[in-house]
Amino acid sequence: MGSYSTSSQSQQKLLFRQLLEKESSTYTYLLADFSHPDKPAVLIDPVDKTVDRDLSLVRELGLKLIYAMNTHVHADHVTGTGLIKGKVLGLKSVISKASGAKADLLVEAGDKVQFGDLFLEVRATPGHTLGCVTYVTGTEPNQPQPRMAFTGDALLIRGCGRTDFQGGSSQQLYKSVHSQIFTLPKNTLIYPAHDYRGFTVSTVEEEMQYNPRLTKDEETFKSIMENLNLSYPKMMDKAVPANMVCGLQDSASVSS
Ligand SMILES: [Fe+2]
Repeated sequence: MGSYSTSSQSQQKLLFRQLLEKESSTYTYLLADFSHPDKPAVLIDPVDKTVDRDLSLVRELGLKLIYAMNTHVHADHVTGTGLIKGKVLGLKSVISKASGAKADLLVEAGDKVQFGDLFLEVRATPGHTLGCVTYVTGTEPNQPQPRMAFTGDALLIRGCGRTDFQGGSSQQLYKSVHSQIFTLPKNTLIYPAHDYRGFTVSTVEEEMQYNPRLTKDEETFKSIMENLNLSYPKMMDKAVPANMVCGLQDSASVSS
């Protein structure tokens, strides 16, 4: 024996951790190319309150954090990106150009965010907000198999993000999920920005079969989204202005 398939080899390259911030039920994801000499790493959707925890894990594992990325401008928590930038020399913040937020790297559909030999491809998935993106691992044989999709709030496990503020649109969200996420291979792992019931991961196949909202036709989906009667997010007035400048509230007050 002793032979490894291509997929298990690529799997060994990826170091992956799913981290939880309890108060906002936010998932932060740490990905690193562990077989690269520098062990370059990225954090997706870090939260201000858990920056110290995340950075101590990064240090312990000997990783070189190069990007702090956001899937969108969050309304329920302050991103950890600004704090991390202040603590990790040379780290670059990443968000979509369409979000209108400030960051070192403004990405668009089709862009690749490279860390070592691994990368995340950017897919535009607006609808929860105008600037939502999904970060997806590559399809090449040296990339992790099965593929992984970091969907932010566009697609949640058996749910989806609300569409009633921040340039949201239920029609747009329906189109985004069906054209950009449900077209991925069925075994693609879905890693959302939140889960409020303790679920950690799903697959494209599972959500295409069991998502109570997105399995419906577009008209039914729209009426579901219009009748959610959700309250105004309590963190919104603090979080959104802060997240438009990557969590550095001081620069927010300077520029306003
Ligand atoms: Fe959100």
